[in-house]
Amino acid sequence: MLDVTLDGVRIAVCNVEGRLHAIDGLCPHREGPLAQGALHGTMVVCPWHAWEFDCVTGQHDYNPKIVQRKFPVAIDGGDVLVDIG
Ligand code: FES
Repeated sequence: MLDVTLDGVRIAVCNVEGRLHAIDGLCPHREGPLAQGALHGTMVVCPWHAWEFDCVTGQHDYNPKIVQRKFPVAIDGGDVLVDIG
C-alpha cells in the first residue's frame, strides 16, 4: 500500500494483484493511517485497532453503515493518477 496526501486528502492506494484501488486513508474509528496497516487480499487492516475495509468497495468488514470513500485511479505511463474530485 501507498500512503499519500493530495490537497490535504489522505489516501490509501492499494495494489491488489496488479490492480490499483484508492480509498480514504483515514480510518473512521480514530483516524488511524490505513495505508500503514496490512493488506490481506482486498482487505485493508487499520494498524491501530484492526478495523478492516475492502479496498475495492470501501466497505467495512462487518458494519454495513461504514463505507470508506473511494477514488478513481488510473495509470499514465509511470504515474499513478488519483482523482480526488
Ligand atoms: S483508528 Fe482504525 S481501528 Fe481504530
